[in-house]
Amino acid sequence: MSKEVILTGIRANNDLTLGNYFGAILPIVDMAKKRANEYQINLFVPDLHSFTTPIDHSQLQEQIMHNLRLFVAAGLPLNHPDVHIYRQSYIPAHSELAWILDCFTGFGEMSRMIEFKDKSAKLGEERVGVGLFNYPVLMAADILLYNATYIPVGDDQTQHLEFTRDIAERLNTRFGDLFSVPYQVKKQHEFFGNDQGLRIKDLQDPTKKMSKSDETGKGVIFLGDTPEVAAKKIMSATTDSLGVIKFDWAEQPGITNLLQLLALATERPQTEVNKQWEGKTAYGELKKAVAEAITGFLQGLQGQLVLVDDSALLAKLGASEKAMNEVANKTLYKVQKAVGLR
Ligand code: TRP
Repeated sequence: MSKEVILTGIRANNDLTLGNYFGAILPIVDMAKKRANEYQINLFVPDLHSFTTPIDHSQLQEQIMHNLRLFVAAGLPLNHPDVHIYRQSYIPAHSELAWILDCFTGFGEMSRMIEFKDKSAKLGEERVGVGLFNYPVLMAADILLYNATYIPVGDDQTQHLEFTRDIAERLNTRFGDLFSVPYQVKKQHEFFGNDQGLRIKDLQDPTKKMSKSDETGKGVIFLGDTPEVAAKKIMSATTDSLGVIKFDWAEQPGITNLLQLLALATERPQTEVNKQWEGKTAYGELKKAVAEAITGFLQGLQGQLVLVDDSALLAKLGASEKAMNEVANKTLYKVQKAVGLR
């Protein structure tokens, strides 16, 4: 039996944030370290997804490489034979399978996607590309080509995962067993545990998540921010007027967000950090401690980033992309045969 596949992709647009790092990159890297002996880990940059909304294309190539370097800087075990790291567009089967799946996907089905509704409402009809509309189909292809069953996605992606299951079952029913069907969201949550629920909040508006596409960027710490800039953003974080520190997302989201950042940046258990700070009244002291921890963290990460060996990274990419082309082409061929193209 070959190993079950854990697969995930992180979009390369804009500069990634602390939220992306602690909420996605680090859990994936930890998982690769812990689980690569039992599972195959597929980690890819969905570069074809990068311009479903308008971007500055002169930056894309560098952003793709930057994201890949981040994984290495965060400690991804590049030498492990069951850890694969690749760029989606280097594996043409993604686009081909997406086209075939498109033809079995309902227009209504795609119209109901919440992420599409949200993003298209923001963009306005003139600027909404068809790619934004049917990108969940490409995402399904990303997953099904490798028969991946475990997909650690955040809440905003669960609908796309449900769609992936639906389209896989639809084609399996019609054409015989073509794809492994990914596990249900509930089982994904059980498997990945708390890592998935982790949400770093915006420093200015702690009721929303820290997002790389936020317009002002004032409440967002980017991984490329200088320590000074990051410290400033933390010192001007929104708190509350209750006056006593307590870890409580409902009543004190700003303070709670700071406590969470402190635990993450210092790699201490949340309960321990809370014990140290709860009941105290000096919000300024807490902010100072968080600012110090985050600047230390950023300096460490940025220091690791410049040490990343690009030639080793490119060699790994080349090897993974070759291996994954073989896997993907096998699945694609099965599908091509099933629908009568071969
Ligand atoms: N759509 C995901 C996001 O925006 C990224 C993504 C693309 C992905 N293809 C994937 C995630 C396949 C998991 C599996 O975050």
